[in-house]
Order: sequence, then structure tokens, then C-alpha cells
Amino acid sequence: MFGKVKEIVEEIKASSVNTKEDLEKYRLKFISKKGVIPSLFQHLKDIPDNKKKEFGQAVNEVKQIAQEKFKSLVEQLEKASGTSETLDFDLTLPAEDPIGSIHPISATRNNIIDVFKRIGFNVADGPEIEDDWHNFTALNFPPDHPAREMQDTFFIRKNPDIVLRTHTSNVQIRLMGKQGPPIRSIMPGRVFRNEAISARAHCIFHQVEGLFVDENVSFKDLKATLYYFAKEMFGKETKIRFRPSYFPFTEPSAEIDINCFICGGEGCNICKYTGWVEIAGSGMVDPNVLESCNIDSEKYTGFAFGMGIERIAMLKYEIKDLRLFTENDIRFLSQFKTVP
Ligand code: PHE
Repeated sequence: MFGKVKEIVEEIKASSVNTKEDLEKYRLKFISKKGVIPSLFQHLKDIPDNKKKEFGQAVNEVKQIAQEKFKSLVEQLEKASGTSETLDFDLTLPAEDPIGSIHPISATRNNIIDVFKRIGFNVADGPEIEDDWHNFTALNFPPDHPAREMQDTFFIRKNPDIVLRTHTSNVQIRLMGKQGPPIRSIMPGRVFRNEAISARAHCIFHQVEGLFVDENVSFKDLKATLYYFAKEMFGKETKIRFRPSYFPFTEPSAEIDINCFICGGEGCNICKYTGWVEIAGSGMVDPNVLESCNIDSEKYTGFAFGMGIERIAMLKYEIKDLRLFTENDIRFLSQFKTVP
């Protein structure tokens, strides 16, 4: 009979289940009252007296082994079918070697946000699908003004116009309309223009807008803010120049250039052989824009600026073709594992 006990132990150990039916068969055979183990007890009477104790212990042991095996088979089946309630690993632990990398556009956006946060700007957000008022009219683009043409707009609907925003300046209007002064915000986001995709242009790209509205804000503040930004972003040695420009929503307006550190000023295709590269548009918020947001333009003044994140990333990481950002080539992306 001891041999039989051993055989049963072996059989239990070798049992495996793939389905609930298998599990039930196992239960009936080894655990249930009519199974093989209880039936072993019936043989007790045939065991010589001096072996009875030993036999009893052996059968009890098999019973325990059978029950433990049953538990582990249940767990195994639950895991296989994904219904396990108790996972034996901690999903909240950080991965030892993170898979993937930070996209250079995200890294650059975070970098820009960090710089402006240090001088008191907060981050605001707005919609990508926008009405004509917020994308154009409130920003002092009169109807049929040629500046509208320059924006290569994608229309979602005509009359009344709904567009994919052509710039993040729509968030300026939303902020001024909702919050009122004082405002000191930056607004990163995706923008859309109907442009042919090339090494220098894309129909979907990213901008960061900045807006500062309060009493006594002057062009001096605009200059100081953007000087600080350029030096933080590109290094203390960076040279900056303001070039007069035109935007309907700012007056006066200026574009900001930095010296081309790729060629060191000697001239290359990045700076179009001028030694300077443009990094942002800017200006003092036009009083018409303040008034269209019900802000008293006699009391308050402000400055705004806007920059392309792709442009900043291309300069920072010396990337020559903008299409690389959206091609998802692992050889390109994996180079940015260590960016902040
Ligand atoms: N919205 C402008 C553009 O897309 C950039 C800009 C923003 C210029 C704010 C001045 C002030 O080109």
C-alpha cells in the first residue's frame, strides 16, 4: 500500500491543467470525498498494526500535497486566462531600462516651458479647432486682409468659418477674454498650415506663444524677456538682434534673430548665408486686440511673442531636415535618450 501512496504523489506532482474541465477532473480524482485519497483510508484496516500510524501520516501528507497542488493549478489557470486578482509583480515600479526616448519636440517644448517658468510665466492651453474670431478677427485681421492669405488656412467649415488654428495666438484671445490682466502665460501647442512638406516646412507643426499683459508693460520688458530666453536656451554667448516686422496683432512688431552658431557667422544654408537665424516673432499687443477682449488699452499694455518649436529644436540639436521629426525612424529617435 505504501507503493500505491507513492504512485499517487507522483501522479499529483505530474498533473497539469489547461482548462476548467481539467481542473474539475483533478478535483474529483484527488480532492473530492469519492476521490482516490479518501479511499486510501479505507485500506487502513488491511495495514499491520505497527504500520498503521505511519500509513495514516503518509495519507495525510498526500492529502496536503493534493490540496496545495490544487491551489497552484487554480492560480495557473487564472493567470493564463488573465483573471488573476493577485499579481506577483509590482506594476508601479519604474522600469529599470526605460524603453523609448523623449521626442526632441517634447524635450524642446519642456525646455522652453522651464525657462519661462523661471521668470514667472504659467502654462495655458487652447483648442486646435478654432472659430474665425479667435484665430483672426479678434487678432486684428480685418476681413479680406492679405495677412489672412499668408496663413494658408485649413478650413473645416465656411460661413461661419471654423479653421484648424494657424497659430497659437488664438489662446491669447481666449486668455484675455476669460481671465483679464494681469496675464503672464506661455501657450505651447500644435498648429496647422496648408504648406507643402519639405526639409524646412510642414503642414502640422508646433509653436509656443507668450503673452504678458499688465499696467506699464513696455518694449523694454519684451526685450529683456527674450534676451533671457535666448541666452538660457542657446548659451550665454548668444548674440540677439531685433528686426522690425509686421503682425496684425502687434504694434510695433519685431522678429528676433540669434547669431548662427552652426557656421559661427561665416554663412551656411541654415542661416541662408546671413550669419543670423530667426527664432521668434514678437511685438507690443495692438490696442485693437486688447479692446476686442474688453481690456482697457489706456490702462493696460502688453507684449506677445511666438516661436516654432521645430525651429528651436533644429537649431539646438543641429537637425537639418524637419521631416525627421515625424518619420519615427528609430535611428533618429534613439539619439535623444539622454535629453532632459
Ligand atoms: N502668431 C505669429 C505667427 O504664427 C507669431 C507671433 C506671435 C508674432 C505673437 C508676434 C506675437 O507667425
